[in-house]
Amino acid sequence: MRAIHMPSELVSGVAEMDRQHDQLFNQIVQVKCAFLEVEDDHDGLALLSRFAEDLIAHFAWEEEIARIQGVLFEEGHIKAHRQMTAFIRLKVAEVSRGVCNIPALMVFMERCFETHVVQYDLKFGHDLRAGPGEIPCTNS
Ligand SMILES: [Fe+2]
Ligand SMILES: [Fe+2]
Repeated sequence: MRAIHMPSELVSGVAEMDRQHDQLFNQIVQVKCAFLEVEDDHDGLALLSRFAEDLIAHFAWEEEIARIQGVLFEEGHIKAHRQMTAFIRLKVAEVSRGVCNIPALMVFMERCFETHVVQYDLKFGHDLRAGPGEIPCTNS
């Protein structure tokens, strides 16, 4: 079994959401390590791009599961997803031009993501658990 990277206080109790969050925290660690360990930034950029794609896909999953389950998705939560999406896209572009300090970026991303989970996702997870349906697990 692979290591758990998500702080335990961020567990929502919705298995699929927790799996995705843990995977994203794991990816943040991988990107940090890749840029700290190697001179050639190629692998790190690929990992960062993959993290950005998976983060954006995760946001879409939350919004879609809310729609499917008939659970209210707060305006502020959607706005936070849009802001983080714009931010990470901008940073991937900066990194590919070589104008960004990646380890510092990933420390910041980790903090932003933790704050996001506490501010929005834990309540959303609670609402999902209180809703009528089972939350399906995806296979990735
Ligand atoms: Fe989330
Ligand atoms: Fe969210």
